Amino acid sequence: MRSAIVLGAAALVAASPAPQALDFAAIQNAPAPTGPVPGVASQSKVYNAAAASSSATAAVTAVASASATAAEKRSLNERSLSERTLTSTTTAATVAASSPAPTTTGLVPSTCTPTGTWSNTFIFTTATGCAKPFEEGTYCGFINPEDPCAPQPDGYGPVAKPDTAAGFVADPALHAIAKNAQDPKGYAATFKDLTAAVNANTYLGVDTLKSYDVAGCAAKCDTIELCTSFNIFMERDPAWNSDQCSCSLPNSITNYKCSYWGSGVTPEAANNNGQTRGDGFQVVITGSNGYSKTNTTTPETPSGCTKPTKCGNVHDHPRTCIGQHFFPGPFDISLCADYAKAQNAKNVASSAWAKWSSFFGYNPGKCNFFNGFMIKENGVAKGTYCKLFAQQYESSAATYQPGWQGSIHYEVESSWSFCL
Ligand SMILES: *[C@@H]1O[C@H](CO)[C@@H](O)[C@H](O)[C@H]1NC(C)=O
Repeated sequence: MRSAIVLGAAALVAASPAPQALDFAAIQNAPAPTGPVPGVASQSKVYNAAAASSSATAAVTAVASASATAAEKRSLNERSLSERTLTSTTTAATVAASSPAPTTTGLVPSTCTPTGTWSNTFIFTTATGCAKPFEEGTYCGFINPEDPCAPQPDGYGPVAKPDTAAGFVADPALHAIAKNAQDPKGYAATFKDLTAAVNANTYLGVDTLKSYDVAGCAAKCDTIELCTSFNIFMERDPAWNSDQCSCSLPNSITNYKCSYWGSGVTPEAANNNGQTRGDGFQVVITGSNGYSKTNTTTPETPSGCTKPTKCGNVHDHPRTCIGQHFFPGPFDISLCADYAKAQNAKNVASSAWAKWSSFFGYNPGKCNFFNGFMIKENGVAKGTYCKLFAQQYESSAATYQPGWQGSIHYEVESSWSFCL
């Protein structure tokens, strides 16, 4: 009789499909990758941490518990986590800016003039020491880059010969700049001299630089919250604003750009080859290098959490798992903490909590351990994946690797566990 019951239970378990270790559909549904927009010189505060935190709390919709009962749990392998001493490698610095200003004189042919219909409707202002009124938001003596035919800012790099898109991506002088760049301290080169810039879901911002300043870019990344990698490249941009200008196809300027990422940067993510503008001008990229410090970065311990532990792979323990959620964006372990705390708060408020609490000290409804990691799809960083557990595990138990799921390859980066 007893064996019949056990057989029945086993058959039931076998009949229901094994739950997947990760919610791959959620990862596949992440928004399209983004990155620096050509023509935008600088962008910061791209990541809205407060909104992300709200979404982590909102991810909890119902009471959830682990499937293992107290009796079963006692037979599960339980070991205490060893304390670790972790060192931080963050240094603060700013991007150096000591190169001479590029000359915009002669950049625009004198024959280029605004077309007949244009009238300047920008608001003008005056200042002592300025000969004539100038446009609000510009600078005394400088021209608003949004004016027709206005010379475009920056352009500190050499212009390719010949000055065409094909000439730009072929120019050995530009390739040499990227190839000869020294690796910055604390970062590992992940790719060199590609003709595309990085696009991914972990974008944090971009700067236009005065030189191919790898060290300065690394120092800037060190000051940006969650930044663990950067992409430095040269971009072919129009020399003047051709909108409502009699000269329609501009010559080019070369901009040094550096974009910042809340994940590693990989050659697979370097898939932004530029764009063709409405006037036919081709924005293209060359000398694109990637540098990453994901392997040596310890995430900041979220409040109320302890024992930051680096995991080789993923914790997959279906019987003690309380929940899991994917958050597209930079690697932000605080989202997993917010998610875990929200789940515990939801569970505490439920009548099940009192029942669970009496289970010999094990509470299948209480998350006291979580694993968070960056998930990469076909080599491109997608977002923070969180898994909550009712029990604590050693890092050696994090053995799951997602690998191939059909024709899509998944990989894990920066996997960390914490105790709550
Ligand atoms: C980080 O470590 C992994 C595993 O050892 C290695 O495969 C990868 O190349 C490293 N990445 C960097 C950027 O050093």
